[in-house]
Order: sequence, then C-alpha cells, then structure tokens
Amino acid sequence: MPIIKKNCINEMKLCFAAVSENEAFARACVSSFLSQLDPLVSELAELKTAVSEAVTNSIVHGYRNISGGTVLLQMRLYADRRVYIKIRDKGCGIEDISKAMQPLFTTAPEEERAGLGFSVMESFTDSLRVKSSSGHGTVLVMEKILQEKDDGSIESEFSDKSRRKHRTCTPLRK
Ligand SMILES: Nc1ncnc2c1ncn2[C@@H]1O[C@H](COP(=O)(O)OP(=O)(O)OP(=O)(O)O)[C@@H](O)[C@H]1O
Ligand SMILES: [Mg+2]
Repeated sequence: MPIIKKNCINEMKLCFAAVSENEAFARACVSSFLSQLDPLVSELAELKTAVSEAVTNSIVHGYRNISGGTVLLQMRLYADRRVYIKIRDKGCGIEDISKAMQPLFTTAPEEERAGLGFSVMESFTDSLRVKSSSGHGTVLVMEKILQEKDDGSIESEFSDKSRRKHRTCTPLRK
C-alpha cells in the first residue's frame, strides 16, 4: 500500500523512547529530512525548535509519571513546499487545551518552566492543532510553507550561496 498522499513527495514516521536524549535526536531528524526542500537557515531553525518544544512536552509532561513511553514523529513534505509535522504521545494528556496554550501557563513552575512552548510552536509555524484527552495522550499537528527556492538568476545565486554558507554554520538552538 503506498504511503504517499496526494502531492506528497516524501514521508517519514519515527517512534522513539521518551527520554531527554531524544530531544536532540528529533532535531537532527528534522534537519536531515527537510534538507530535500533546501530550507532557509531561519526556517530550519524554527522548525527544529518547534519540534523540540513538542517532543520535550511529551517527555516531561506527557510521560511525567509513566515509564517506557514512546513518542511518534511523522513528517510529510508536499510539492508546494508545505511541511506537515505530527508529534504524538500516549501520556497523561491535557485537561484544558486552551488554558495550556496560553502564554506563560505552566504546570511545572518549580522546574523553572516558562510556559512558552506552545507560543514558540505557534509563532514558528503557520498552523498548530492540538488534540488531547486525559489519560490517552496528545497529538500535535504543525504545518509550515517554506519559501520558494531561488530561480537561478544572478541575484539568486547570491542568496543561494548564502544558503549554503548558512548551512555550514553551527545550528541555532533555543
Ligand atoms: N504532551 C503533553 N502532555 C501533557 N501535558 C502537556 C503536554 N504538552 C503540554 N502540556 C501542558 O501544557 C502546559 C504548557 O506547555 P508549554 O510547552 O507551553 O509550557 P511548559 O512546557 O510548561 O514550559 P516551557 O515549554 O516554556 O518549558 C504544560 O505546563 C503542561 O501542563
Ligand atoms: Mg513546554
């Protein structure tokens, strides 16, 4: 059965243990998978940070009192340069999603959490949808349309070089 949906040019699904080491792993996966679309350094940094926030939430909140949990990361790339990212955990779930998504709301102030993860995800993507139910886990879907690639003109060559130059820089971290 083909996994590719209409206009979808590539897709991946990854399931990993809910341990903090895998926050960096998820960032690296995003980088690697997105390279096919040749994103701008800023777009790449934004998507890596958004995914990192979501994965961290699954690990530190979703599976707070549950051991052996896993996180699913799914990505699809579309011909119109749309990037679809789904992150799912089967942890404790969120009781009140609108409250949880308010800037500065956190249930873990003692851990010096700022309550800004959802705000970061919202500002770094074009859309963010959250579904959750207590005791069953949480699913996040983020989408972002990447800027068009350069057309090969002299001016574009400039920006193309700058893309490549940027790509060799140390990745930005939050
Ligand atoms: N996957 C999840 N499972 C259960 N609860 C979650 C999940 N994601 C978020 N939450 C809840 O939503 C709240 C807000 O999340 P958000 O990421 O905005 O802030 P935070 O994680 O508390 O702080 P920060 O992200 O700034 O470190 C969390 O404090 C937590 O209660
Ligand atoms: Mg968070």
